[in-house]
Amino acid sequence: MNILITGATGFIASHTIVELQQDNHNIIGIDNLSNSSIDIVDKIAQITGKKMEFHKVDIRDYDNLKSVLSGKKIDCCIHFAGLKAVGESVAKPVEYYDNNIGGTITLLKVLNEIGCHNIIFSSSATVYGTPAFVPITEECPKRICTNPYGWTKSMIEQILLDMQNANKDWNVVLLRYFNPIGAHQSGIIGEKPNGIPNNLMPYITQVACGKREKLFVYGNDYDTPDGTGVRDYIHVVDLARGHVKALNAINNNCGGEIFNLGTGHGYSVLDVVKTFERVNNIKIPYEIAPRRPGDIATCYADPSKAEKILGWRAEYSLEDMCRDSWNYQQKN
Ligand code: NAD
Ligand code: UD1
Repeated sequence: MNILITGATGFIASHTIVELQQDNHNIIGIDNLSNSSIDIVDKIAQITGKKMEFHKVDIRDYDNLKSVLSGKKIDCCIHFAGLKAVGESVAKPVEYYDNNIGGTITLLKVLNEIGCHNIIFSSSATVYGTPAFVPITEECPKRICTNPYGWTKSMIEQILLDMQNANKDWNVVLLRYFNPIGAHQSGIIGEKPNGIPNNLMPYITQVACGKREKLFVYGNDYDTPDGTGVRDYIHVVDLARGHVKALNAINNNCGGEIFNLGTGHGYSVLDVVKTFERVNNIKIPYEIAPRRPGDIATCYADPSKAEKILGWRAEYSLEDMCRDSWNYQQKN
């Protein structure tokens, strides 16, 4: 298929493009490079031996987007582009709504005009808020989000489903990611956060390489087996393969569908620290700190719908994720 990837040079998109190219799909990538760099285009080619068509475009820029895509036959768009820093979204809500929601609306207009009515969207488990139950199935009700970033995901989901409801030509797949970590086994691509990492694994790898002194564990008084927060960490390569499988739903004219992409296993912060130490033979000094505002105790998926309908399930273990995250950090 000819697949348009927005946010193409980002963390999850770059891994997805590798898997798509290895499955013989043809990629047109766009990104405004606000949170990634152009060298990723060559790094992907280094892994797959195939160079994608790439354009530096902001999805909010209707004229530029239209001129790049006019006359192209796009079978499906996988829409990753967006700003994703939770704390920054609290400080700059209008920027987040403009970029994520405004950008999506402009993208949808152009897709409609060029006759592409298939979209797969990067959503997040954040739309479940404090989940009504765990493991979280897709039927779990959406709840109040704790920050503007989360609201952009929740609102974009609604916009896409409303659009599909109004026009049955569209197929919309919402993929709710749990906590992607890890990196490509080659160590050529991975996650490169700007500044002080917000998320757990990038922080751990920066402690491991001596860039940061110690990890702050945000709270050990949650109602969890060891008191620290429990999450469903998923290897980014497994997540990437979930997108390849989601194309099956698009090809089967699925209408509007939602899938959780997680492993179904919950691990605590201390499970991750101990596994990282054991697999990589490196000590991670840590200190228990107060809870982080907006955090929840426990969040993990019931991924059985994706297995049943898409034939997808996560294969990599927490050990693999810790090993590959550290391999990438060392090489970069
Ligand atoms: P990322 O920041 O590495 O990738 C996003 C890419 O989008 C970046 O390369 C950025 O430059 C680009 N971008 C942002 N605004 C743009 C615009 N207006 N026009 C064109 N390009 C633009 O993030 P990621 O971790 O790869 O996340 C990809 C998607 O998955 C995002 O939508 C994110 O919200 C979602 N998601 C991520 C996680 C996670 O933990 N990483 C979890 C759930 C959902
Ligand atoms: C965070 C975002 C969520 C987003 C997701 C993926 C918040 C409140 N939530 O989820 O909206 O979809 O990232 O980008 O930011 N932890 C520490 N020390 C650290 C970092 C994290 O103890 O330095 C703990 C957290 O308290 C949590 C776990 O590690 O229990 C995972 O944190 P993180 O990687 O930030 O992901 P989430 O909070 O699940």
